[in-house]
Amino acid sequence: MTSEKNHDPKVIVALDFDSADKALALADQLKPAMCRVKVGKELFTRAGPQLVKQLIGKGFDVFLDLKFHDIPNTVAKACAAAADLGVWMMNVHAQGGPGMMKAAREAVAGAGHKPLMIAVTILTSLTDADLQAVGLQGGAEQNVLRLAALAEKSGMDGVVCSPMEVLTLRNKVGAGFKLVTPGIRPAGSSKDDQTRVMTPKTALLAGSNYIVIGRPITQAKNPLAALQAILTEIR
Ligand code: C5P
Repeated sequence: MTSEKNHDPKVIVALDFDSADKALALADQLKPAMCRVKVGKELFTRAGPQLVKQLIGKGFDVFLDLKFHDIPNTVAKACAAAADLGVWMMNVHAQGGPGMMKAAREAVAGAGHKPLMIAVTILTSLTDADLQAVGLQGGAEQNVLRLAALAEKSGMDGVVCSPMEVLTLRNKVGAGFKLVTPGIRPAGSSKDDQTRVMTPKTALLAGSNYIVIGRPITQAKNPLAALQAILTEIR
């Protein structure tokens, strides 16, 4: 687990697959000393807690990306269940409110290996018009800053944010508050469906603590070589 590691891998590989077999086959090509892995909604819904346990059994720190958002009691119980699985990081929606985030925090306080609790502020897929449609005032950046401050006040360890938001956020939150950023593309690689991207090195220099990278590694002919190239770039 993290506390026993004498290093802190910055790259979280998004295992966006539709089966445990595919996820495990990819994980077997990587090394736990070099990266963490992320299990999201599709893979978890198909492969469940068993896969999470298998990945942890192989030595990987797992970010369980299920973005819980419900009444405080329900979210607290889901977070306790995730902590029992032994995940390294998990997340909830900041829009669930301070009571929900505090309940989530308290639910994992006594866990053997305390997971990092990360909040999602505003989904990067939402436009300013979408924010208005759901009744949020102001643009995305304003809402991201407000919700990140609320998440910090509510005991969260950090937020997921776009690399473009890192610079502004880094100056507004405490030094220990983690910024976890997807939307990362090594120079020269395909953007896929991401629009505003940053290179691994630029995102880390801007103040990101962990970078989430999926397809540039998972769809590479040689995933380990792709990861190694990224690690060389950021070293
Ligand atoms: O393949 P790619 O590097 O684009 O994968 C990025 C990962 O980060 C995916 O699992 C995606 O769902 C996740 N993510 C994202 N943008 C966000 C939040 C999460 O790309 N705003």
